[in-house]
Amino acid sequence: HKKLKDFSEDFLWGASTSAYQVEGGWDEDGKGPSVQDMAEHPENTSDFKTSIDHYHRYKEDIKLFSEMGLKAYRFSIAWSRILPKGFGEINHKGIEFYNNLINELLSYNIEPIVTMYHFDLPYSLEKKGGWSNYEIVDLFENYGKILFSNFGDRVKYWLTINEQNIMILNNKAVGIPNLSTKNPKKELYQQNHHMLLAQAKVMKLCHIMCPDAKIGPAPNIAYIYPASSDPEDVLAAQNFSSIRNWLYLDAAVFGRYNNTAWSYMKEKNITPNIKKGDEEILSEAKPDFIAFNYYSTITASKKPSFDFNTDQQGAAGEQGVYYITSNPNLEKTEFNWEIDPIGFRITLREISGRYNLPLLVSENGLGAFDKLEKGDVVNDDYRIDYLRKHIEQAKLAVTDGVQLIGYCPWSAIDLVSTHQGFKKRYGFIYVNRDEFDLKDLRRIRKKSFYWYKNVIKSNGKIL
Ligand code: BG6
Repeated sequence: HKKLKDFSEDFLWGASTSAYQVEGGWDEDGKGPSVQDMAEHPENTSDFKTSIDHYHRYKEDIKLFSEMGLKAYRFSIAWSRILPKGFGEINHKGIEFYNNLINELLSYNIEPIVTMYHFDLPYSLEKKGGWSNYEIVDLFENYGKILFSNFGDRVKYWLTINEQNIMILNNKAVGIPNLSTKNPKKELYQQNHHMLLAQAKVMKLCHIMCPDAKIGPAPNIAYIYPASSDPEDVLAAQNFSSIRNWLYLDAAVFGRYNNTAWSYMKEKNITPNIKKGDEEILSEAKPDFIAFNYYSTITASKKPSFDFNTDQQGAAGEQGVYYITSNPNLEKTEFNWEIDPIGFRITLREISGRYNLPLLVSENGLGAFDKLEKGDVVNDDYRIDYLRKHIEQAKLAVTDGVQLIGYCPWSAIDLVSTHQGFKKRYGFIYVNRDEFDLKDLRRIRKKSFYWYKNVIKSNGKIL
């Protein structure tokens, strides 16, 4: 039996949320609308107007987080709460809200881990072309400057853009609503380029303004398996890895485009226009760590497959490049997402091997139809099982030499899923509302709450 290394003494045992998925108060105290507030929702899923009303209940929620023993809490700041239009006048009520939130966390010794932007672009920026407009690079830097100067004295961990790769690969699901041109894919890669520049700029700025803080990107990274040992399946897996994973991390860490991804864009006639000076901006990006979200691996094949449920995490494929197929070795969640704990270890090792930076898991978790039983009980053993297996694999990865600084499962508390509404729950804490009936929004500790509390208390020894 292998002798396992322990998690470090200051390991950031945490949990995650994002602003629009928990806050509510979507138009309160001067907040401007975001693309999420203005998005159309499928008939059977909730909007984000109230979410779980965390905007008014953050004290109660943080008290529960502290009871669970969280050492860190990852949340995002709503850009349009700070700057209702995305630029211009600052909304002081917005600054006040996040000051209160951060101070409340610190009063319980919970380390705030702040995502600067999580799918909720200010709607007025969207109307000016959103990420297609080059101006947004400086507007994001300006927004960053406001965050660092107001919160940088207390926030030591910053994440730039949540799941930029998923926004590009599956733009309809997550906050890029309008593509105007005849070549929408090219426009997307232009947006991607602007995001990379914006990210590089805020990383640089953070180091200047907050020298003792750390900052890094937060894409969704999934190891891509070839469907077989057929060399063409391996090529398909490499292609998709370059387009989905390494394009984003190579740009964030090495400050340049990944070669395979670039030649793919060239072949498809979708390369972004690069202005004079852009390359230099990119090359100055120097993250202190890599945060990433992990839900499962992906399997790629040279030929199309019709059994794959295309979801937020993926994309079905492209002729001659790659296709996604299902992996017969893996079980699936109720929502048809594959479950692959060993793939988590593989992904951790791969990222660590490529970039040799500390890693922070910013999301990992299981969405399910939880059931509230008599006496306010939620027996979410399936969630415990999922998380336990992933933490076991994280420990193996640490033993393998991966520098893991924290683990923040999705999600700290039930929230509105990105595109599957409230019925798909992820939290350690149950929130008593339905898809449309807000009920009393009361908070109820799930079985996983008590389980995770022990995990944290034992620093990952008792699983
Ligand atoms: C990630 C996002 O993609 O996955 C979260 O960063 C999201 O915002 C989570 O909620 C789970 O996805 P979903 O679609 O089940 O909510």
